[in-house]
Amino acid sequence: MGLLHKFTSATKMAMLLPFHGVKQHRLMLQRYFSKEPAIGAIPYELLLHDRYWENHLGLDTGGWVPVDLEDGMLYEATPYLLLYEILRHLDLGPKDVFVDLGCGKGRATCMASRSAVGRVVGVEQDENFLQIARENLEKVPKRQAPVEFFNGLAQQFDFDDTTVVFLFNPFGARTLLEVVDLLQQSLQRNPRKLRIVYVNPVHEMVLLGTEWLENVATWQSDAYPEFAIQPPNPRMVSFWQAKS
Ligand SMILES: C[S@@+](CC[C@H](N)C(=O)[O-])C[C@H]1O[C@@H](n2cnc3c(N)ncnc32)[C@H](O)[C@@H]1O
Repeated sequence: MGLLHKFTSATKMAMLLPFHGVKQHRLMLQRYFSKEPAIGAIPYELLLHDRYWENHLGLDTGGWVPVDLEDGMLYEATPYLLLYEILRHLDLGPKDVFVDLGCGKGRATCMASRSAVGRVVGVEQDENFLQIARENLEKVPKRQAPVEFFNGLAQQFDFDDTTVVFLFNPFGARTLLEVVDLLQQSLQRNPRKLRIVYVNPVHEMVLLGTEWLENVATWQSDAYPEFAIQPPNPRMVSFWQAKS
């Protein structure tokens, strides 16, 4: 019964997709025909992508899990489609070190490992999540990059070769402030290009309050009507870089 329900709801979504696609044909054409990076999702698209990628990669990264940490947010994975477009937008290269800060069950870490990036690091304070992330990583087909995991707090991580920090609202303003200070100190020791991607940027005032970071792009939440981030935020993703 469960399987039948899964099958019929997926079929229903797949059948309705072209209908919504007609209304938002520009987005559809851009993403599926001209294969250019596209921002936004039409109804059912995020769900279908989540199902597709989770099956295709053989991963188990779903669910909402409370986190037992004073300034930590709950576990939830970034939708695959959003991750896919973020990674395309970042255009990672062999000199990049991509750090998924609060990697949870490893969805973003696993997806990034399939790009031509120098190295990927998943940082996570919860050993149980990290064990799942390790098991997930073993299953990822077409991995291109070496991956490491760091079991500890983001505030304890050594950022000295990090070039891209990925955050999906993992913690509160206090921790973010500590991390931003560490990044600045690390840049002073080792000047380099540094980018920050902040999904559901609840505490982006912290980034805005620095003098050394600039906001280079923002994707709005109304482009992703299906993805109800908590707490609600008109900004879905903001991209930052260290001023040169
Ligand atoms: C919203 S989940 C993000 C999962 C993953 N990055 C993704 O996008 O699929 C946030 C994760 O951050 C972790 N976390 C929260 N505070 C942390 C901290 N101070 N240091 C390390 N990990 C932390 C939580 O345990 C949780 O797994």
